[in-house]
Amino acid sequence: MSSVDSQRRVLSGMRPTGRLHLGHYHGVLKNWVKLQHEYECFFFAADWHALTTHYENPADIEQNVTDMLVDWLAAGVSGSAATLFIQSQVPEHAELHLLLSMVTPVSWLERVPTYKDQQEKLRDLDLATYGFLGYPLLQSADILMYRAGLVPVGADQVAHVEITREVARRFNHLYGREPDFEARAEAAIHKMGKKAAKLYSSLRKAWQETGDAEALETARALLKEQQNITLGDKERLFGYLEGGGKVILAEPQALLTPDSKMPGLDGQKMSKSYGNTITLRDSNDEVSEKVRRMPTDPARVRRTDPGDPQKCPVFQLHQVYTDEATHGWVQQGCRTAGIGCIDCKKPVIDAICAELAPMQQRAREFEANPEAVRLIIAEGNERAREAARDTLIEVRQVMGLQYRQ
Ligand code: TRP
Ligand code: SF4
Repeated sequence: MSSVDSQRRVLSGMRPTGRLHLGHYHGVLKNWVKLQHEYECFFFAADWHALTTHYENPADIEQNVTDMLVDWLAAGVSGSAATLFIQSQVPEHAELHLLLSMVTPVSWLERVPTYKDQQEKLRDLDLATYGFLGYPLLQSADILMYRAGLVPVGADQVAHVEITREVARRFNHLYGREPDFEARAEAAIHKMGKKAAKLYSSLRKAWQETGDAEALETARALLKEQQNITLGDKERLFGYLEGGGKVILAEPQALLTPDSKMPGLDGQKMSKSYGNTITLRDSNDEVSEKVRRMPTDPARVRRTDPGDPQKCPVFQLHQVYTDEATHGWVQQGCRTAGIGCIDCKKPVIDAICAELAPMQQRAREFEANPEAVRLIIAEGNERAREAARDTLIEVRQVMGLQYRQ
């Protein structure tokens, strides 16, 4: 595949941490469901990444992966719209990770902010391992393997996409230059035809000599349109534009997932580690019970005490789940003690249950038919392996590992 198509390819992964909750749904899954119809999407369970931190209890991993995949499907991520797979079932990820490790300075990895942050946050785990240091590089391998142009991630993962770009650039710099690269690039220019060739050359000059970013964009667009040169030539000319060699590994961009506004039951961000979640599988009774037990504005000790919705986590849930008219009703009712907290919570409970109902219906169907899930993932694994194999053939070749026996 060429760097042209990579702009339309999206890849993202999620570590299997067990049952998903509404924070995952509003923060990640809803976005994936949308993206899968707009791009060619690869979504995978990052089980090796889970092992980098939880290598001491691997027993849960398989169940966590299965639960997570069913939750994805329940949320509307689709095995026909997107390729869904499990990282460890595509062992090519390990090979690419190894090969990239040859050219990645240790200092790049030590500098990634999550390295020290997570070691401090997860103090009870021993993360002074080689595998944990390599976490972002394994992620780079995940991304570069599929030549994904866009990587939807939260703000905490942007540094990982950034190091991926650096690794790709270094790799292309080291291995992208064929011995006769310039001659081949010049020959490719001629194959585009006189007019396009002239335009390409002048745009390239404008970019390289004056840093004219618009010229770079125009030249890229020009290349994309070219029908009469080979994919290899096209890639050469993409590389030639920026002065480097052939682009073997495409530099991805982070597609920043809008920060989820999803508040947890205590008003902090919803997160398993805070114990403030509503999971996608909670029954209506569980949802109801959890919301009813939510703390409210402490000023409302008695039903007759007025309160302030700004000081109440229930009102934050209203922002996600109810309309303007209801917000007005809460504001007015809370401040005048016209409504009780139980009344106020009711529309939130109803809206959450209504949102979860179709997901739970789908989850039940998939759980009743594990073979269907297995098949979706088996097909996804196979599609992923095919794409991965293509990349590795090229990577092995430029690294001098193309043995023929
Ligand atoms: N590190 C990511 C996270 O914790 C998961 C992940 C692994 C990932 N590989 C990836 C995300 C590749 C995007 C692309 O959320
Ligand atoms: Fe919170 Fe609603 Fe009670 Fe006001 S009425 S304190 S917003 S739950």
